[in-house]
Amino acid sequence: MDVLRIEGGRSLVGELEVPGSKNASLAILSAVLLGKGTTVLHNVPRVSDTLIKARLLTHFGAGVQWREASLIVDSTDIHPGQADEETVRSIRTSFYLLGPLLARNGQAELPAPGGCRIGARPVDFHLKGLALLGAEIVLEGGVYRARTRGLRGAEIYLDFPSAGATQHLMATATLADGVTIIQNAAVEPEVTALAAFLNRMGARIEGAGTSTITITGASSLSGCEFRVPSDRLQAGTYLAAAAITRGDVTVRGILPDNQTALVNKLREAGARIEEGPDWVRVSCDRRLKGIRVKTMPYPGFPTDMQQIMAAVLSLAEGTSIVEETIYESRIGHVAELNRMGARMRVEGRTTVIEGVPSLKGAAVEASDLRAGAALVLAGLAAEGATFVRNVRYIDRGYENFEQTLTALGASIERLDSQDLEEARQTLE
Ligand code: EPU
Repeated sequence: MDVLRIEGGRSLVGELEVPGSKNASLAILSAVLLGKGTTVLHNVPRVSDTLIKARLLTHFGAGVQWREASLIVDSTDIHPGQADEETVRSIRTSFYLLGPLLARNGQAELPAPGGCRIGARPVDFHLKGLALLGAEIVLEGGVYRARTRGLRGAEIYLDFPSAGATQHLMATATLADGVTIIQNAAVEPEVTALAAFLNRMGARIEGAGTSTITITGASSLSGCEFRVPSDRLQAGTYLAAAAITRGDVTVRGILPDNQTALVNKLREAGARIEEGPDWVRVSCDRRLKGIRVKTMPYPGFPTDMQQIMAAVLSLAEGTSIVEETIYESRIGHVAELNRMGARMRVEGRTTVIEGVPSLKGAAVEASDLRAGAALVLAGLAAEGATFVRNVRYIDRGYENFEQTLTALGASIERLDSQDLEEARQTLE
């Protein structure tokens, strides 16, 4: 069912571990096609994006099998294949298959990608980089058709440190002839995770996690075993949930360094932060105060936490300014939070938030993954019942979301059709 019902007003308290990173898994699930043989991936989150991506691999000849949180991919025989447009459009990272398919087969075809609607999300850096690596790509009828007479190393400068372009080009270059240098590369932890995975497959990548990555091409890669690191964005969401509900939540099994921007901003707003070698605790027993937040590429404040932070700040005392510099329209949460009594307005790429003392439950709609998470957090803190529709967006990136929140003391449930009918009548 596609609706969550939340009874707000309970502080979240407790400890949890988060599953593996969705975004690292999605990048790895493209790169996996580069290696001949069987790869065993542990700690892959079972969210709808990874389920779809894993199924997509079978269109190109890969064998795919889930064993609990492990995914076994046999990419011995990979063919150019043909993926249906609907599946490809449903996730952005389907496009990152183009380079690996090209590297394995010398040709590839993929419909143009989709993903959450948070901005134009062009793929020009990917296309320019692939061309420098020796690909000839044309777009015909909404389908990218690529071929190569042999990939070769190149020097690639990215106009912006795009996580996706860095991952796609770094992976493709592992099978190019010679050395590739990517300048102004993204330094996101998901890039570092992908490089570690590729090196495990036999690639030679140096500098991942810095803005210059050097890849020395290999003639072939082979299957490997790899554990996906935990999801910093799911972790951040639960830490933010502690702040908005004036609770006390510890997330274990994570790298505190990956949470630096978020925890510093929560601390500035008045939350209490404690950290250990592999855990972060956020607690809060008072009303937060308004702050300024500006999204930046890692290690700056993550765009993926922007909408969630805006929900937290909607209840802070005073004015907050939240500036989004990565995407032009990641604002689907604003009108919905205002339905709950928030006072937010969008000015260009900035959201101005006049903090209110309380939010009131309402029927709201998720427009994308993180907007959906922001609405759930607002619902947890609001007075009364909140109904969040379009939960399918939340299912793209949060595993066992309501179960995890329930274990922390939330009152949240997914409505079945009968409940939904009753809820509709209550709301009418
Ligand atoms: N960009 C271009 N041209 C390109 C590629 C990117 O102009 O060819 C622009 C984008 O439009 C955007 C900026 O560069 O303005 C950054 O985009 P980036 O390529 O870094 O984003 P992405 O790789 O498409 C990943 C995550 C997003 C996350 C961003 C930023 C995955 C599957 N997605 O997207 O995650 O917001 O990096 O960190 O890894 C999410 O999880 O909710 C999500 C949207």
